[in-house]
Order: sequence, then structure tokens, then C-alpha cells
Amino acid sequence: MRTLESIQLAGIPLHNRIAVAPMSRMQGTQDGCPAEETASYYARYARHKAGLVITEALYIDEIASRAYFNQPGLATDHHIDAWRRVTDAVHAEGSKIFAQLQHAGRLAEPGLNSSVIGATGRAAAGTTWQTGSPNPSPRAATHQDIEHIIAGFSAAAARAAAAGFDGIELHGARGYLIHEFLNDQNGRTDCWGGSLTNRLRLAGRVLAAARASCGRIPISFNYSMYSMDDYAYRPQAGAPELETIFKTLRQAGADILHISTRRTLRPEAWGETLAQTAKRSAPGPLIAGGGLATLADCERALADTGCTVAALARPFLANPDWIDRSLGKQELHAYFPGMERRPLLWTP
Ligand SMILES: Cc1cc2nc3c(=O)[nH]c(=O)nc-3n(C[C@H](O)[C@H](O)[C@H](O)COP(=O)(O)O)c2cc1C
Repeated sequence: MRTLESIQLAGIPLHNRIAVAPMSRMQGTQDGCPAEETASYYARYARHKAGLVITEALYIDEIASRAYFNQPGLATDHHIDAWRRVTDAVHAEGSKIFAQLQHAGRLAEPGLNSSVIGATGRAAAGTTWQTGSPNPSPRAATHQDIEHIIAGFSAAAARAAAAGFDGIELHGARGYLIHEFLNDQNGRTDCWGGSLTNRLRLAGRVLAAARASCGRIPISFNYSMYSMDDYAYRPQAGAPELETIFKTLRQAGADILHISTRRTLRPEAWGETLAQTAKRSAPGPLIAGGGLATLADCERALADTGCTVAALARPFLANPDWIDRSLGKQELHAYFPGMERRPLLWTP
């Protein structure tokens, strides 16, 4: 089975081609450290054979980047030692771990940050993910805010390397800040909005800044089309726009593209899956995930999309031992909403 073969992902040796996709658990300490159980939580996935673990989204600065209450971060040097315990625990089980870095932008929980910053002053539609509150009204990021945000990603990437992570992943998906800027309705009229070149500027600058600060570890860029506030979003310019996005992200320093959709194996309107579009237009290391439920699905994803690694989120939340269960043909538990709020070491 190709899924279970060892592979190099952008120079990182993995003992198989299965990743635990990033999953926010909102159970860090008040000051943004991982919880007491976090090391055992991530190490449990490694013990049950996951080749790669990508952490939940970690906030990058103390100004406006936090998305959720009790979200852990890599925003201060104090967080480095806390994450070192987690990376050591995963490495002791023989797997690799990437840190996902996030700026919440306008999808932050109200009352969490001293200010809410978005591409414009327009609030996202609908309610927040954690508390179901109406999405807050942001203020439009100034040039100075944007420079602070880029510097924040850069510093957090350096901390990730110092904490022993094998790679970092930038959260450029689901409507959070970097993704909001990429969106064709970003609404800005300055050099950060309007044309696709301008909308790609923030992602490119963050990639370059992270590259300069994190040394030799690979950088993954997590991209989705959909946002938490618009599940149906497709760029009006269609596939050509996506091709330009993927090419530009690679040129700007994304060693790995992580395409996270709701259905990895479902072709888009233009006749191929989003991961296929990424692979075709910007060849190179690729993680693909979303809607993969079985080992057979992972095999199909590798074959159909040409991805290097298949990523699963909810199946791992419901079955920390998903690989062992799948190999033993044991019954798999189904995910149910709210499972992410159960204690980290809870077993379904
Ligand atoms: C509880 C939960 C938390 C998530 N948190 C994150 C996150 O922190 N960062 C991220 O990029 N995606 C996050 N996602 C999205 C997943 O990584 C994944 O793309 C999505 O769940 C589809 O994959 P699946 O069908 O295997 O669950 C989350 C998903 C779930 C269900």
C-alpha cells in the first residue's frame, strides 16, 4: 500500500504518507501555552503511527492574532519551552511535527484581542466558530499593522524552529487573515488589494519573512477555497486565478502546498480536483486532505491527485488510533460536532 510507504516530504523523512491535519482544540492555558496533556495528545497520534502531525493553529502575536479563547500560541519566547516538550514527545515516538501559524483577522472571537483587524472594516457574515457570537466588526489594517503582522509571523516561525518543530505551516485558508487578503472580495484599494498580484502580496511577504527566520526547515502553506463565513466561495476568475495563486506561493517560498478542501476527491467545476490543479500548475511536495475517511480513500488521493501525503482531521479526532484500527479492520468511530471540546486525552 503506497499510503504506508516511507517518503521524503520536502526533505523531511516520514515513515508513512499519512498526516494528522491541523485541529484547534481550544484547551491551552490562559497565557497561550499548550496544556499539560498536549504533549501526550500529539504523541498519541505518533504512537499510533501517524507519519506527520500538524498542530492546531497557533497564534503569532499578542496584538490581534488570536482566534479562540484558550488557543495556544508561539507569540512569546515563553511559549518555546512549552512546545519543546511537545516536539520531544512526538519525536520520541518516531514521527515528525509541524507548527501551524495563524492570524485570526476578522474571524477572532469578540472580546479576545485588544483590537480586531481585517482587510477592511467589514465584518464577516455569520457567527464565530467557538462561541457562536456574531462576527466582530474589524478595523481595516493599516500599512503599519500589516508590517507588524509580517514581523509577527517571522518571529513565530523562528520560535517554531527553536522549539524543535520539523517544519512550519502558514494558515492561508478558511477566511483567516492571510486568506481574507487572497479573496477576490478583499475590498482594499491600495497595494494590498484589487489585482491578484496585490492580493497575493501579504502571503508572499509572510512566506519570505518566515523563510528568512526559520532556517532550513520546510514551510507549508495551507490553502482552501472556502471560508468559515462562505463555504461556497470560488474565485470569480476560476481555475486560472487558482493556478496563479499556487505558482506564486511556490515561487515565494512555499516548499509544500497543503490543499484542504471539504472533498479532496471531488472534481471542481473546471473538471479536476483542487489538489490536481495545484499539482499541475505548481508541481512539488503536496499535502491533500478533507473528506478522506478510509485507507482506500488515501490510496485514491495519492493516485488521483499526485499528493505526497494525505491528511485527515475528523477521523483522527474520533479515532486517535485510526491507522491501527484501519489496518486491523476494526470499526471506526464517527466524528460528532463538539468532539474537539472533549478533554485532549479522551478516548471515544
Ligand atoms: C475540530 C476541527 C478543528 C480544526 N482546526 C483547524 C485549524 O486549527 N487549522 C486548520 O487549518 N484547519 C482546521 N480544521 C480543518 C481541518 O484541518 C480539515 O481541513 C477539515 O476538517 C477537513 O478534513 P476532514 O474531512 O479530514 O475532517 C479543523 C477541523 C476541525 C473538524
